[in-house]
Amino acid sequence: KHWTDKDRYRPYNEWDDAYLVELKKRVKQSNWRLGFHIQPQTGLLNDPNGFSFFNNQWHLFYQSYPYGPVHGLKSWHHLTSTDLIHWKDLGLALQPNNQFDSHGIFSGSALSTLEGLVFMYTGNVRDQNWQRHSYQNVAIMDSGNAINKITEPAITTPTNIFTEDIRDPQLLKIHKEYKVILGAQTINKTGAIAVFKGHSLEDLKYQGDLKIDKELSGYMIECPNLVFIDKHPVLLFCPQGLDHKQHEYQNVYPNTYLTGESFSWDYLEIKHPSALANLDEGFDVYATQAFNAPDGRALEVSWVGLPEMEYPTDSDGWSGALSLVKELTLKNGELFQYPVKETKELRKNEQVNIKQLANSSNQYELEIQIKDNQTGELQLLRSEDGQHYLSLHFDTTMGKLVLDRSHSPQPINVKFGQKRIANVSSHSDLKLNIFVDNSVVEIFVNNGEKVFTSRYFPLLNESGINVKTSDENDTIRTKMWDLLKTN
Ligand code: FRU
Repeated sequence: KHWTDKDRYRPYNEWDDAYLVELKKRVKQSNWRLGFHIQPQTGLLNDPNGFSFFNNQWHLFYQSYPYGPVHGLKSWHHLTSTDLIHWKDLGLALQPNNQFDSHGIFSGSALSTLEGLVFMYTGNVRDQNWQRHSYQNVAIMDSGNAINKITEPAITTPTNIFTEDIRDPQLLKIHKEYKVILGAQTINKTGAIAVFKGHSLEDLKYQGDLKIDKELSGYMIECPNLVFIDKHPVLLFCPQGLDHKQHEYQNVYPNTYLTGESFSWDYLEIKHPSALANLDEGFDVYATQAFNAPDGRALEVSWVGLPEMEYPTDSDGWSGALSLVKELTLKNGELFQYPVKETKELRKNEQVNIKQLANSSNQYELEIQIKDNQTGELQLLRSEDGQHYLSLHFDTTMGKLVLDRSHSPQPINVKFGQKRIANVSSHSDLKLNIFVDNSVVEIFVNNGEKVFTSRYFPLLNESGINVKTSDENDTIRTKMWDLLKTN
């Protein structure tokens, strides 16, 4: 199907029910549906939104276009959970229906308050000339999950400073004051993170931009998030058009982060910032959203996907997934990301040091420990004839890992390269925890020192696992679990 703008922005109530029923059927038959990841029932999923804890539950939303695997008229789709693993699907929540959000409820965040769960999100509007206008809007959800939109936008774009590419507000409350950080583009076409503040949401004023090196800001920034770990800031953001000479990355747009000693809200700067780094080494990760949860953890979740990509599931009528929920920690100033401890609840049927690694389903966690001084290769999702597989080369002496998608049964966005490389501690043992869920693979290296998040689309019965090392004698320890949801 060719999707015109008219198709993409057709109001939801103008689609007939039969179309959606038919689409649901097609999606259900897809060979690449996921077992324990959040995925759309139909159509496209992109950014995680409104990740929060409110009314004794976790709330998570995602950018949804339900009518096809394309970017169309967006809404927020709502899920709740008590354990971050089993999610209850509550369907569409925030939907476009007024002059300040007519062309999409774009990304945003949620802040738990005594008055309810407060959402701030970007209302995307196109005028008659298809010019974009962006509004930062507020809505409040009560404990019965009823949502009330505040009609007047909290922020309209200061067009003397920014273009209409300003979006994805993170709403924070710091020392009784509201702060909003926004991904933006200045009128000079450079990326920026704009900060607004005020004592009430009706009184937000532009304060200035976060001080980030101009070279690291690209032409536009999307999805900024600031979290704190023991008072140290971690700033996650997606700078589009970042110069490859300034920073190495291979995905169409990088999902990056900075950490630092401390953060000043007066000067809007990170004191002693780290070098810019990629949050994830994989092929498919973007728009990560993080927040400081009331239980003290810094949690994050990512879109397993990227703008402008095509995936084999498109022809099955769906696209995109959310990653596992991960906890962010700092160890000696280094950022670690690891699935929340609750993820272990999914483990069933433990197998230890099995000689012939094999499994009948592609829904498992594989833990591999490899001794120092080894080079070798791990092949996952392997066909019986050994033609197709996802490969991970490791060299523990050099501390180098290479994920290689070039033996996949079908090409996936090959113009962005088929290999991703990560450097880890050299001359040391290597530990891999690999979460395979049919067409999503998340590889955590050394308890989260590095992460590779990727899609991979095996054919039916391609589920072999193969490990080879330079020294075959007792250098590998493995554990394996099926990962199954209990409901
Ligand atoms: C990032 C993004 C956001 C925007 C949303 C629209 O993937 O482009 O900047 O709010 O997606 O769906």
